[in-house]
This record gives sequence, C-alpha cells and structure tokens, in this order.
Amino acid sequence: MECTFGPVRWSWLSTYGFTEDLCQIGAGVSLPGIMAAKCGAEVILSDSSELPHCLEICRQSCEMNDLPQVRVIGLTWGHVSQDLLALPSQDIILASDVFFEPEDFEDILTTVYFLMQKNPEVQLWSTYQVRSADWSLEALLYKWDMKCVHIPLESFDADKEDIAESALPGRHTVEMLVISFAKDSL
Ligand SMILES: C[S@@+](CC[C@H](N)C(=O)[O-])C[C@H]1O[C@@H](n2cnc3c(N)ncnc32)[C@H](O)[C@@H]1O
Repeated sequence: MECTFGPVRWSWLSTYGFTEDLCQIGAGVSLPGIMAAKCGAEVILSDSSELPHCLEICRQSCEMNDLPQVRVIGLTWGHVSQDLLALPSQDIILASDVFFEPEDFEDILTTVYFLMQKNPEVQLWSTYQVRSADWSLEALLYKWDMKCVHIPLESFDADKEDIAESALPGRHTVEMLVISFAKDSL
C-alpha cells in the first residue's frame, strides 16, 4: 500500500494518545487514517465527492482492516457541502500527499479554515512529495491567517531511503509540516 505519510506509525501513540477526533482529507488508500483508527482515534476518512471510486477505495481499506466504525464521506476541497457542515469538531486533519497541484492549494486551505472555525486548535498534519521548489504555501497561509511549522524527518527517524520497508521516499524529497491557526491568542 502506498502512502507518503510516515510519522503516524511511530509517533501516534506517544504524541496524541487514543481519543482524538481525526479527519483525513484526500484519503485515497487511507493508510494514516487507518493506523490512527487502529490506535483508537475517532476517524473520518474523506475524499472528493466527485471521485466515487476513491471513496470506494477508502471503504475497502476500512473493510480490509476490520474498521466498520470508521465513516467515509465525500469532502471536495473548497466546497461547502452538507457533509462538511455536519462534520463534528476535529482535533487533527491528516493530509497525506495532497499538495500536488498548486491550483488546489487554496481550496485545501479553505476547507481547513472552515474546520478551524469549529475548533481553532485543530492542526493539519501533512507530508508531501516536493514536486517543484517554486511552489509555496506562504502567501496563502498569510491570507488565511494560518501558520506552519516544518517537522524535520530526522525528528521521527524518517530520513531514510525506504521507510517501513517500502520504496518510499526513495529518491523523492518528502517533507512534513503542521499547519495551525495563526491567531496570537492561541
Ligand atoms: C496523491 S493522492 C494521495 C492519496 C493518499 N492520501 C496517499 O497519501 O496515498 C491525492 C488524493 O487526493 C484526492 N483528491 C484529489 N482532488 C481532490 C479534491 N478536489 N477534493 C478532495 N480530494 C481530492 C484524490 O482522490 C486522491 O485520493
């Protein structure tokens, strides 16, 4: 199963305990969300409501991993849908390899911003493959009142060529960041 999200496997238990409400966006095969659910988090998996086959893959991952309690919903980045409106407050948003198309970046952040209105302390954890050094989230983070912390891969022992015996990241450059609300009062 391919997934560029590395840290959940090693740091989930020690970092976040067992009870977080967690939503994975652009989940696809859903490995980090599945791992979190196995560790006891309340997980909702989501993918584009316009890509039913991707939602079906999320459902299959739940079935294969014996996780009938994990909900799968359609959440298209940048769309305010009934499912987004009804989503309960989240603690963590997992976003594994979703920053691959610059034209989607602002849509992703607007969805995150919406979830920040429900819980200003929500964090988005993202790992992503660096596809172009010219791409940047900086201006959009400023616009949407968010801040971002870069997490060095070596801080969770993931600065290797083959994480967890997979072929990832191989020769790709993979980075991790945590995005949160920038308000000084937090
Ligand atoms: C590169 S894949 C990453 C899949 C998975 N998170 C992983 O790391 O293996 C990008 C995912 O984003 C989803 N996606 C693409 N456009 C989307 C959109 N506009 N709204 C929500 N999800 C989208 C795709 O269906 C796909 O599952």
